[in-house]
Parts: sequence; structure tokens; C-alpha cells
Amino acid sequence: MLDLFADEEPWQEPLAPGAVVLRRFALAQVSALMQGIAQVASQSPQRHMVTPGGYTMSVAMTNCGSLGWTTNQQGYLYSPIDPQTQRPWPAMPEAFSALCRQASVAAGYPDFRPDACLINRYAPGAKLSLHQDKDEPDLRAPIVSVSLGLPAIFQFGGLKRNDPLKRLMLEHGDIVVWGGPSRLFYHGIAPLKSGYHPITGECRYNLTFRQAGNNE
Ligand code: SIN
Ligand code: FE2
Repeated sequence: MLDLFADEEPWQEPLAPGAVVLRRFALAQVSALMQGIAQVASQSPQRHMVTPGGYTMSVAMTNCGSLGWTTNQQGYLYSPIDPQTQRPWPAMPEAFSALCRQASVAAGYPDFRPDACLINRYAPGAKLSLHQDKDEPDLRAPIVSVSLGLPAIFQFGGLKRNDPLKRLMLEHGDIVVWGGPSRLFYHGIAPLKSGYHPITGECRYNLTFRQAGNNE
């Protein structure tokens, strides 16, 4: 399939110490990424997880890689098994690993080896409240976050929940990488505005790559 819009040249925007936005970095690989999402979701379907507090998340999620982020009544955890299918999460598609490798190098984290990729799907109105990514045991590894489809407003704060927020629009093909001093910075996604994107239709996808195991 032809990668529409792939002719735009990527550029970088510094976001915070250890954090950078790689604008349009994923554009050239969008077809393979979309195929990867479809393949993963055909094995481990996207689902609305329920938080330990009993709240059903508005974002639909699935995972690929050796570990997947999920919820249960006790809390948030990484599991090698999809609790819905009782089978291992699908393997990480080669196109995912390759893009993550390139983005990590570009952002200054050449040693990053993700073992988990969370696939988020946002329909209009879906949001992710301000949170820290802190379920991973080794916080030396960064977070690599790929945006596809409809644009969304990304909020990026600091180490404290009430630190001032930067608000930036993440568009199709953008990648945010944060690690080092900003690894535990609060972030979130404002409710998705409805619209239509030629590649994803009426939704936004986000791929979040993490090292969720100890990597030893
Ligand atoms: C996340 O914080 O886990 C996802 C952020 C995003 O959807 O861009
Ligand atoms: Fe997050």
C-alpha cells in the first residue's frame, strides 16, 4: 500500500530534559504499522480494561511483545499472558521493533530494547487522565510513544501532578520519546476530538514501547 503523506521530512522538537518529539518520524512505515496493529488485534482483540477502582477505561487496548500491560482488581501489571485469551500476547511485529529502534537512536537512547508494546485505540471522546508510567521495574529505559491517525492533545508536565502542563498536538506519524530526567513525568491525552483520518478512519492509535522486564 502507498504511504500517503510519507513525503514530509521529519524534524525534532525538544520537549523537556531527556524528552523529544520526533515529528512525522513514523510516516514512512505507516502501512506496515497498520498491518501490524490489525494482525495483533486479530489474535488479542482490543478491549476496554477495568481499573482496580472499577472504572472502565475509555481507551481500548491490546499488547504485543513478551509482556503486556493489563489491569486486575489488585492493580496494574505486566503479564506474559493475555487474560482475555489465556494465551501469550502476539509477538511484536518486526516493523514495530525496527521503528522503535530507529526512534530510540534518534532520541539518544540507542540501547533501548522494548519487550512490551501497548496498543491504544482512541475513539472520539476517549482520553487518558494525567498519570506516570511507573509499572516498569527498570526506569533507566525510556518510553517511546507513536501516534497514528486523528490528532490528539498530549499533556506533558513534571514529576509532581500539579506541575505546569505543556500541551502539544500529536499528529499522524509523530513519536514522543521520554527518559532520563523526564522518565517519570506526568502526562495524559485530552478527550479526542471527532474527525476522519484517511488511514485510521474515525480514531487515533498510539503504540507505547516499554521495557517492562528486567532485561537480564
Ligand atoms: C500513554 O500515556 O500511555 C499513551 C499516550 C498517548 O496515547 O499518546
Ligand atoms: Fe503513559
